[in-house]
This record gives sequence, structure tokens and C-alpha cells, in this order.
Amino acid sequence: MKYFIDSILKPFITECGYQHVCEIGASEGQGTHKLLEIDSIDIAVVDPCLDTDLSQKFRDNKRISLCQGLSLDVLGRISNQFDCFLIDGDHNWYTVYNELRLIDERGLITEGGTIFFHDVCWPYGRRDMYYQPEQIPKEFVHPYEKQGIVYGQSELSSRSKVNAEYYNAVYEGGPRNGVLTAIEDFLKESVGQYRFFCLKKEFGLGVLHKSTGGNRTAAFNKLLQRSKYTNALYDMKDVAKTRLPVPYSFLRRLRRMIM
Ligand SMILES: C[S@@+](CC[C@H](N)C(=O)[O-])C[C@H]1O[C@@H](n2cnc3c(N)ncnc32)[C@H](O)[C@@H]1O
Repeated sequence: MKYFIDSILKPFITECGYQHVCEIGASEGQGTHKLLEIDSIDIAVVDPCLDTDLSQKFRDNKRISLCQGLSLDVLGRISNQFDCFLIDGDHNWYTVYNELRLIDERGLITEGGTIFFHDVCWPYGRRDMYYQPEQIPKEFVHPYEKQGIVYGQSELSSRSKVNAEYYNAVYEGGPRNGVLTAIEDFLKESVGQYRFFCLKKEFGLGVLHKSTGGNRTAAFNKLLQRSKYTNALYDMKDVAKTRLPVPYSFLRRLRRMIM
């Protein structure tokens, strides 16, 4: 998510005049610190602190409140409303689907608010990853292994190093698998209260805007427009990578040598 903060999130949050932001999954808090450059916001950080002790890191900052714990526990007990959520925690269907369900059912997002998600494209758009598989009810956990992911291939591979340190679902696709599938399943049940699109860049940014009356903010429309060009390029690259892998990797190597 931090890749998008300067280029997209800060201008978007500022233009919308959002004041209360909830960041789910903050890792070492680098993105949180960048977000604080917007003077007018406060940030609630939800994270079990698997990567670092955020309580030490945020100790002296009055604009950050740390809710240490799993997102589904925290979202089930807090009652503050937020204008904006950044969801980049546990990247699996069960967690993301239920994060959305809780935010919606418990009225945690304001009208006109926006939820951003990271990793809605490959590799986790259609494949679960589990930080702590034992925290997810067994019936929602796909078979998983600590093995690498290969673009365009469903099975994991012992030869790939891509995210090989995580518990990745053994197969890509199918029901209840991946971050984007979770968002789509939530949207099927939410009868027109939300507008959604993906920006296909840096593993994908999902943008979900709450507008019960159908009005979308100018910032949402602008970003939607911008996504069309970015997404067309991504789709062309995808065709080249999957249908013409040899010329594609030759051109990539050539580009690296020249640049
Ligand atoms: C991909 S990192 C977040 C990266 C961060 N957003 C950034 O841009 O730098 C995922 C984070 O999610 C946290 N996490 C894992 N499971 C979680 C859960 N169930 N609820 C909330 N956060 C979770 C981990 O502690 C980790 O810090």
C-alpha cells in the first residue's frame, strides 16, 4: 500500500476532506508516517504487530491510536466511524470478506467514505495467503504451503522465490479464494450502495466508494478515469507475459541492460 500513498492516497484524502482514517495492516508503520503528512487527519492502526512493535513506534504520537489485534476482533468491538479505510492486512478471502461485512453492518464507514485495498491483482487477487492460518476457521482455509508463486500458473513452485516465505494457497482461483474474490462476493450482497474499481499497478489497488445515493465524489471519478489507461497497459503486458513469454522476457532483459 505504501507505494500508493504519495501518488494517490494523500491527494485523494486531502481532496475529499477526510479526517478519520483506519489503517488495517501497517507492517513497520512507514506508510502511516507518510499519511501523517496530511495535518488534518488522525489514524487508527489495526495490526497484531507481527512485523514490529508498533506501540513503541507510535508511543509519542497523539494522532495515532493503535488497536493491537486481529482486524476481525477489532472491527467487531470498535464503534468510531471512519471516512477512509486502508485494508492491507491478512490477504485471504475469509478475512477480507468479513472485514467488509463488519465495516458495513456496524456502520463504521461514513456516507461518501472510501475503502482502499492493496493486492487485488496478482498474486493475491485470486489466491489466499495466511499470516496465521490457525486464526482462520478450518472450513475457510485452502490447502497452503510455504512455496513461491509463478505468474500465469495456478500451482506453487519450489523453484520460485516470489513470496515463498508466506503460507500461500496451493491453487489459484475458484470460490472463496483471494482478496478480489472477497470484495466481489461482498458486493454481490450489498445492493448498489458501493462503487468499485481496481487500479492495476503495483499488485493492484482496489477502490470502494460508499455512495448510497449513487453520487460519486470528483476524486473517485478522476481516479477511475486515470485507471483506464493504467489498466489497458497492464492488460497488454499480461497478454505478452502469458502468450509470448520468451520475447517478453527477452525484451525485459534488454530494457534492464539499456536503462
Ligand atoms: C503487507 S503488510 C502491510 C504493509 C503496509 N500496509 C505497508 O504499506 O507498508 C501486512 C500487515 O498485516 C498485518 N496483519 C496480519 N494479519 C492481520 C490481521 N488479521 N489483521 C490486521 N493486520 C494483520 C501484519 O502484521 C503485517 O504488518
